[in-house]
Amino acid sequence: MICFLGIETSCDETAAAVVTSAGRVLSNVVHSQIALHQPHGGVVPEIASRAHVELLPGIVERAISEAGIAWDEIDGIAVTSEPGLASALLVGVAAAQALALRLDRPLVAVNHIEAHLRSIFLGEGCPLDRALPTVALVVSGGHTCLIELSPDRAPRLLGQTLDDAAGEALDKGAKLMGLGYPGGPAIEAAAAGGDSKRVAFPRGGVTSAIEGLDPALCFSFSGLKTALRYYLRDHPEALNAEHLPHVAASYEEAVVSVLVERLESALTKTGASQAAAAGGVARNRRLRSRLAEMAARRGVRLGLAAPEFCSDNAAMVAAVAAAGFGRSVRPIGALDIRPTAPIGLETP
Ligand code: KG4
Ligand code: ZN
Repeated sequence: MICFLGIETSCDETAAAVVTSAGRVLSNVVHSQIALHQPHGGVVPEIASRAHVELLPGIVERAISEAGIAWDEIDGIAVTSEPGLASALLVGVAAAQALALRLDRPLVAVNHIEAHLRSIFLGEGCPLDRALPTVALVVSGGHTCLIELSPDRAPRLLGQTLDDAAGEALDKGAKLMGLGYPGGPAIEAAAAGGDSKRVAFPRGGVTSAIEGLDPALCFSFSGLKTALRYYLRDHPEALNAEHLPHVAASYEEAVVSVLVERLESALTKTGASQAAAAGGVARNRRLRSRLAEMAARRGVRLGLAAPEFCSDNAAMVAAVAAAGFGRSVRPIGALDIRPTAPIGLETP
C-alpha cells in the first residue's frame, strides 16, 4: 500500500490528509479559519498565513495519527503549490519540503484546481467510469471552469469565468444582502422557501472569446452582482423578512442556472457521456439537484464530489499524487509557489 500525505494551505483552510494509491482516504483533517476572517467579510491573506503557521503542525500530526500509520509509512508528500494566496501557499510548501527532506520521501507539487477536479473520484460510491470522457464543473470561491477529463490525455480547459467566480458572486451578493461570510451557505439558508422566479436577475451571457476558449462555455458573474446592487437600491423592502427569501432564491437560481446550462452545452459540444461537479459551490443543494435533473434528462452519468471533499481539503491534494498525477519536484528545495498559475491544463 502506497500512502501519500497531502497538505493544503492555499486559502483559509489548513488541511492535511493521508490517501492510498487505491484512492482510500485514511484521514482527512480540515481546520476552517472562517471564524478568524468573518469579522472582515472575506479572507485576509496575512491572517490566513499566520494561522496556517500556528495550526499546520498539529493538523499534520492529527492526519498521521488518525490514519493509524507511522511516519515512515508515508511514501510521499503532496502539497498545493499553485494557485492561491502567496503567503498562505508558502506555509504549506515550506512544511512539505521540510517533511520530504526529513523523511527522505518524494515531493509532489499539486495544482489546486486539478485537486478539486480529481476530488470527484474520492470516497465511496463514485458512479463515474474513469475510462469514459467526463466534463467537470470546478466551481469555488476562486475558480469557475469547465474541464474535459479523458483517460488518455491531460485535462483540457473548455471554458472559465471572465471575471468573478461563482462562489465570489455568492459571497459578494450575500454581503450586499447583509447575510455575512461565507456567502454561499448563507444565501442557501436565506433562500429556503423562497420563490426563485420572483426577481429576474441577468444570466450573464458571454459574447467575446477569451484565450481561444468557446464563449458559449465561459461565464461572467460581475453583472449579476451589479444587478443585485441596483435591485436593492430600488427596492428597499427587499431585505425584510418577507421578501428576503425570494431575493436570495432568485439570486442563487441565477448563479445555478448558468452553471448547469454551460455544463450541458459542454456535454453537447464534446459528446462526453459523463458530467461531474466539484469545489465549494458544488456543496449547494439547488445546484446538486439541478445537475441531477439535467443528467437524468440527458441520460448521462453524474459524479458529484462528496460534500466533505467539495470545500478545500488535503485529501484531494494527496489523491492527485497517489493517482500518479502532479509534478514531482527534484531537488526538493527547488519547489516554488505560483500564486497566479493558470489551471495548468491543456487548452484547446
Ligand atoms: O472550494 P472552496 O472551499 O475554496 C476555494 O477554493 O475557493 O470554495 C469556497 C466557496 C465560497 O465562495 C463559498 O461561499 C462557497 O464555496 N460555498 C457554497 C456553499 N458552501 C460553500 N456556495 C453555495 N452553496 C453552498 N452550500
Ligand atoms: Zn478550492
